[in-house]
Amino acid sequence: MRLGIIGGSGAAAFLAGGETVAVPAGPWGETSGPVRQLAIAGHDVLLMSRHGEAGAQAIAPHAVNYRANIWAFRELGVDHLLGINTVGGISASATSGALVLPDQLIDYSWGREHSYCGKAGRALQHVEFSTPFCTRLRSRLLGAARRAGIELQPGGTYGVTQGPRLETAAEIDRMERDGCDLVGMTAMPEAGLARELDLSYAICCVVVNRAAGRTPSGVAIHAEIASNLQAGLGKAERLVRELLAGG
Ligand code: HPA
Repeated sequence: MRLGIIGGSGAAAFLAGGETVAVPAGPWGETSGPVRQLAIAGHDVLLMSRHGEAGAQAIAPHAVNYRANIWAFRELGVDHLLGINTVGGISASATSGALVLPDQLIDYSWGREHSYCGKAGRALQHVEFSTPFCTRLRSRLLGAARRAGIELQPGGTYGVTQGPRLETAAEIDRMERDGCDLVGMTAMPEAGLARELDLSYAICCVVVNRAAGRTPSGVAIHAEIASNLQAGLGKAERLVRELLAGG
């Protein structure tokens, strides 16, 4: 497995260290930033921060160049891609601080460059997408969580909103009726693009807040996010290390 990791909000320093590798120029423009390579348990792992490097102006979810990012990983020989995504929790089990491995998604985002088809000589493809996340990578992550004693919720539906604003309570009510357990802003078009390039893709979600209308009374959403982010990302880091140690 040659693993690539796309770190999410607050994760610019995820698995810190390593060396910067040159990103090959591609037909899709600039990536969110450089790619770092580091060795973990004898594997070379490549990392990029989805919203740009620490210290730089953060790239909003709708402005991320998802096509360039995923393409760069493919060009660098990555065959498995793991996204680390901070999300809001909609279903009762998606409590702040929880780690969740979704198995489905619903895309509410719009206007994003979401396909490679028809450009740069790429033919039209209607990729199969009934299972948007790689089942094998998901079971390996669940195995790693079991071995490391990390609680990882084994499924859920991720609803992708456009952002960058958070949702209204009524929007979250509608998403809940649709069957969404989690809300975030970045799993699409990332998952679809990874599928078009035939990469095994999954995401590990860190619930950093309860979604709009579900926040504990008296807790400001941004304070809730800040208090859950680092601990959640720490668990996700341990999960990645165990995944790689396991083969
Ligand atoms: N909504 C959308 N995206 C998010 C949230 C949220 O509540 N929390 C973290 N990412």
